[in-house]
Amino acid sequence: MAKIILTGDRPTGRLHVGHYVGSLKRRVELQNSGEYDEIYIMIADAQALTDNMENPEKVRQNIIEVALDYLACGLDPKKSVLFIQSQIPELCEMSFYYMNLVTVARLQRNPTVKTEIQMRNFEKSIPVGFFTYPISQAADITAFKATTVPVGEDQAPMIEQTREIVHRFNYVYGETLTEPNILLPDNSACLRLPGTDGKAKMSKSLGNCIYLSDSEEDIKKKIMSMYTDPTHLRVEDPGHVEGNPVFTYLDAFSTDQDFEKYLPEYSNLEELKAHYMRGGLGDVKVKKFLNNVLQDVLRPIRERRIDYSKDIPYIYKILEEGSKVARAKASQTLKEMKEAMKINYFSDEALIRSQVEKFS
Ligand code: TRP
Repeated sequence: MAKIILTGDRPTGRLHVGHYVGSLKRRVELQNSGEYDEIYIMIADAQALTDNMENPEKVRQNIIEVALDYLACGLDPKKSVLFIQSQIPELCEMSFYYMNLVTVARLQRNPTVKTEIQMRNFEKSIPVGFFTYPISQAADITAFKATTVPVGEDQAPMIEQTREIVHRFNYVYGETLTEPNILLPDNSACLRLPGTDGKAKMSKSLGNCIYLSDSEEDIKKKIMSMYTDPTHLRVEDPGHVEGNPVFTYLDAFSTDQDFEKYLPEYSNLEELKAHYMRGGLGDVKVKKFLNNVLQDVLRPIRERRIDYSKDIPYIYKILEEGSKVARAKASQTLKEMKEAMKINYFSDEALIRSQVEKFS
């Protein structure tokens, strides 16, 4: 069976380092591994509109921001199909049929939808489109016959729901759709990178993000004012590394080579942590180290982003071409679905023959 990747992001803002360690970095590695037959990376503008319907301009502006972030991280349009969700109308058609396979109760139990309803104060009146977006996400995934969906942990319920839809569809209409597998980051610090304020999630609305496109000074400012261990008041005090985002970021980003280069008095992160916990290691020193590490990761990304931003029409061209390729694939899958669902009236000669017989 072909190995196919599909994943994507809502274009509601520039991408940040949480996206990077949670998914982007992995995507680029998978792309360059040569192990996948097809790779589709989707800018989920239609999904972004499910909770931003009054704000289409925001979604429109962020399409290019996200595309630039993708290219800057190393997604290569020669190897990966970069496309825009709304340009694939087949996805809507699929969603419409999948709606018959899912109950309201099942959607209400989806943990991601539950938290998002709370976050958006939708408790009183939930837009139907928002409520059903897991169904549309199942269409995104199955349209491409994706076997592998590299995403962050928060997306696990969506993949689970997709698998249920696939089972149900195949059970009712016969083997047609491919069951996807989630691919989570292997490093637990990368699963959910906290915000610079120590809050569980990096999120634009909380203002606790480090963006891939941030300038060198911005990154430094954000790191030097990061939340650390509030009980670590004096350098001599013993400190905590758990729940301390500075150390979580080091877990996610630092390598032994970084120690050799910037902090040769420690050979690895474990030694640095041990010293912090013992007491006698100040936050400023750790933050300066983190700054060096993160600057090395983000500098090449930022520079490539600036280069790509010099030719915006070319970025639109990439997305337009990608959307054509993606549409061809989705339309093939939809054709197979319609055959399985017996709604292929005009291309089924056996049907026409049997009806002729019935009425003769
Ligand atoms: N829900 C994802 C997010 O919020 C975006 C997305 C839409 C997606 N469709 C998808 C991710 C299909 C993976 C597969 O970031």
